Amino acid sequence: MSSSTSKKANVLLFGGGAVGAIAAMNIESGGLGQVTAVLRSNYQVVKNQGYTIESVDHGSLKGWRPTRVVNSVPDVAKESLRPFDYIITTTKNCPDIPPTVAELIAPAATPGHTVIVMIQNGLNIEKAIFEKLPSNIVLSGVSMIDSYEGKPGHIVQESRDRVYLGAFRNPNIPSHETEIKAAHDFIRIYEASGKPDVTFSDNAPWSRWRKLVYNAVLNPLAAISGLDTSRLRLSGSVIEQLARPAMKEVVATAAALGHTLPEDIIDAMVDLDPIELYLKPSMLNDSEKGNFMEVEYLVGEPVREAARVGVPTPHLKAIYEMAKLLQWRTKETKGLVTVPPKRGE
Ligand SMILES: *[C@@H]1O[C@H](CO)[C@@H](O)[C@H](O)[C@H]1NC(C)=O
Repeated sequence: MSSSTSKKANVLLFGGGAVGAIAAMNIESGGLGQVTAVLRSNYQVVKNQGYTIESVDHGSLKGWRPTRVVNSVPDVAKESLRPFDYIITTTKNCPDIPPTVAELIAPAATPGHTVIVMIQNGLNIEKAIFEKLPSNIVLSGVSMIDSYEGKPGHIVQESRDRVYLGAFRNPNIPSHETEIKAAHDFIRIYEASGKPDVTFSDNAPWSRWRKLVYNAVLNPLAAISGLDTSRLRLSGSVIEQLARPAMKEVVATAAALGHTLPEDIIDAMVDLDPIELYLKPSMLNDSEKGNFMEVEYLVGEPVREAARVGVPTPHLKAIYEMAKLLQWRTKETKGLVTVPPKRGE
């Protein structure tokens, strides 16, 4: 980017919810990038009134907008637009619900140029992007932000934006050095405002496996039971009988793949949410709103990786099957699956 240092980076944000809005704000307020945000559910509100933001990093703002707000992904080649230097994806990521993130962002990506930054959870999320956009660098963002969108366009950020940023290894890119340099370039733009706390992570999969100890187990268990993580812990035996054994399976799978997690990781993840907060993890929030959950990248992929490397995961599989039932229920409600008519109807 040396020739364009005077020019701001051209950034497309795909998903302007609780994580994306703060990402846009970081980049715009740092002054090294300008953001076009592709919004869906909150498009009208943000277009008309801007965001209302209550943020521990940025303070309280009313009517804030990124440089541009659009309601569909621009087709850069067809519309002869200036190429995007970065596409940041912050939407929910459900490969079982078409169209997929890769399909949706593809028209905005310039082959060999646009760097895709996935600030999304789960395992193997980069594979679908490599397939669709083989010549693009893909970065990994693991966000530890605690933020939510209470009403459309109203973002509340309650803890500092902490992100672990690294580069996925795209086998089509000749050297990993290029990918790592792209990660550092992006970090410079993302943290220029001094507000977010970005840590370069030279082992992107490790950060993901670490977070999966929580996300593959407590997150779906909360959704399945309809209980927040404090109530799961207060309810009796489920933590000892199901959660910890399933977490051990996640840790064993990570280890089999060469990612050694710290010894106290299971205790740390069981107790991650302060008990007096009654925190609802994302899948519980999604299921309560009748939305799809990130079942496949949070639970399905760890189960499949375990099968691939021969680690038995009986507890995790049970959780996965139950989470899939919940997802199937939502699919039926939304008309993505239909069943044959009941006899006599
Ligand atoms: C779920 O929603 C509640 C607000 O209803 C929020 O406090 C909480 O942070 C959300 N959970 C996640 C993981 O975003």
